[in-house]
Amino acid sequence: MKIKISPSLLSCDYSRMGEEIKNMKRCGADMLHIDIMDGHFVPNITIGAPVVKSLRGCSDICFDVHLMLSEPLKFIPDFINAGADIITVHVESASDTRKCLETIKAAGIKAGVSVKPSTDIENVFEYLDIADMVLVMTVEPGFGGQSFIDAALPKIEQLRSECEARSLKTDIEVDGGINPATAAECAQCGANVFVSGTTIFKNPDPEQAILLLREASTENYMK
Ligand code: DX5
Ligand code: ZN
Repeated sequence: MKIKISPSLLSCDYSRMGEEIKNMKRCGADMLHIDIMDGHFVPNITIGAPVVKSLRGCSDICFDVHLMLSEPLKFIPDFINAGADIITVHVESASDTRKCLETIKAAGIKAGVSVKPSTDIENVFEYLDIADMVLVMTVEPGFGGQSFIDAALPKIEQLRSECEARSLKTDIEVDGGINPATAAECAQCGANVFVSGTTIFKNPDPEQAILLLREASTENYMK
């Protein structure tokens, strides 16, 4: 599986978002993770579709949009319109997950499904036929800068072996507390897409931070 690094905009300088995005591409990021929070599904609020739409004009980098919304189905058309390349919804939301994934796929973009740390990974298995990506949360969603939850590792392992048993090349993304050490552990279990906010944006040398994440995950993937 191709290793991809997806810096999370949640930790960027919000007064310079456009510049930050351009810089991530220059620094070698494969995609850009955009966290959308409604203050209800998670105890925090971020940005909405109009902001994503205006940022779309700044870069052609892949927009990896993570919807932490109670009713994602209501807002999926707005994020498709805003130029998302991948939209991920949570199985714990109130919307019908399959309907969400079908709506995203019908727009010709990639669909992802996510689980919170306390949700069993088996809950995504019924969507593996349609999902391009599974996002395994490695912290409680809502805030950047939290510590990695080790209990996510066996979930990643179980998911990768289920994908392999079904001959699926599903991307497995991890999000929360990702640094070179935790990226290596997740890669060993079969994760190949690495979201990172703090480790990349708070490093004075983000290019080096991306490189170290890429090295750690490449060297350890399924080892
Ligand atoms: C948390 C978000 C993450 C967050 C990760 O709910 O989904 O994308 O930005 O931040 P770090 O990498 O700082 O743990
Ligand atoms: Zn996220």
